[in-house]
Amino acid sequence: MKELKVLGIVTFFTLLMYYLVEPYAHHAMHAKFDAQGNEIHIESQGFVYDGTTEAQASAVAVSDLKYKLSTEEDAKIKASLEKKLAVAQDIEAKKATFWKEVASIAELKGDAKSGETAFASCTGCHNGLGMNMGGVIPPDLDHAGAIYDSNYLIALLKDPAMASNVDHKYEDTMAHPMGSIKGTMSHQQIADVVAYMKAEKATEPTAKQAFVEACARCHAMRYDKLTQLGDAPKTKENIKTGHDIEAMKYAQKVAEEQATLATYMGKLPPDLSMIIRARSEHFMETFIEDPQTQLPGTSMPRVGLNQEGYDKVHEYLMDIGDPSKPARDMAAPWVLGFLFIFTILAFLWKKHQWRDLH
Ligand code: HEC
Ligand code: HEC
Repeated sequence: MKELKVLGIVTFFTLLMYYLVEPYAHHAMHAKFDAQGNEIHIESQGFVYDGTTEAQASAVAVSDLKYKLSTEEDAKIKASLEKKLAVAQDIEAKKATFWKEVASIAELKGDAKSGETAFASCTGCHNGLGMNMGGVIPPDLDHAGAIYDSNYLIALLKDPAMASNVDHKYEDTMAHPMGSIKGTMSHQQIADVVAYMKAEKATEPTAKQAFVEACARCHAMRYDKLTQLGDAPKTKENIKTGHDIEAMKYAQKVAEEQATLATYMGKLPPDLSMIIRARSEHFMETFIEDPQTQLPGTSMPRVGLNQEGYDKVHEYLMDIGDPSKPARDMAAPWVLGFLFIFTILAFLWKKHQWRDLH
């Protein structure tokens, strides 16, 4: 019976570590706090975009500055804090107005037929030619109606930088590469184009297509031989020289694209082959919904995926990053069952042996 007690104690502490200590340590390491030391909770918004995360971030920024002002003595620092506060309040108001307008456009009934005509203006850039425009290759929009939230699409067509929550990057001279459409469409036209995409560009993508359209213009997936230019071509070895000239030319083109992208983003977006093992579900969801919540100031734009789009992208990241997970999950009950039966057998066998010795 002593063995069972030991087993019980070991099991107890293992479960305690797994379910309480580890998550707590993780939480404590990643928690974010405002200036007064209150914890900021980052919640998933369910892949619906209405300005909530922006409003929360603005409110924290404003209250932080107010708090700092109330505790600051130095007149000079006070003056500069006051300036910052005015800017933060201005941003808060601008964001609130923007998302209110988005909500009012969402109320309009879009006409897909008229939207088709207006959509033609998009294909000048979104032309499938893989040409870099202002730092990045415009993505294919073949499944845009299926993977993006419609509120987000409205916001994007109204003001790309605001929609992606990277407007802070474009305060000075740098213009968003899709910025030329800002202010060119009436509210009704925006509703029409979104209605068109929701009707005609809404066939279900494969997991990989969703990733390619939403992420691969920036993020490569080395383990799937996917680069910012698409699938790496399968080349034949050049027999004469022993070098694979085609592969080298392709690598050169990828390097050029990545250099342009790195200039646009300030750094090369990381390869995502293994990211799904490194980051928690909560991090991925909230980060994709609004990168600013998890990495304030990051240059990664919000992508605007809806739940379906996120699920597809997640599926692809799992397929490539952790392909043996389904097999592991299947095997787990069998392994546990085996251990359980083996434990009973071992116990009975031991009892049997000792009985003779006593
Ligand atoms: C001047 C070129 C240009 C025009 C015109 C243009 N786009 Fe874009 N679009 C881009 C670029 C470049 C990106 C990628 C921006 C980035 O990732 O930072 C993009 C991104 C997008 C995305 C993905 C957004 C995201 O957050 O992932 C969608 C959807 C989109 N455009 C739709 C449209 C629609 C619809 C139109 C027409 C009304 C349009 N675009 C017109 C250049 C353009
Ligand atoms: C327009 C370019 C762009 C697009 C599109 C884009 N990202 Fe990013 N992403 C970046 C950049 C730049 C970084 C590096 C951010 C940093 O370090 O501040 C990044 C970082 C990340 C990270 C790492 C965060 C961390 O530090 O752990 C993840 C995960 C990620 N992106 C996922 C995605 C997914 C999934 C998509 C598609 C749904 C996507 N990204 C689309 C530019 C992009």
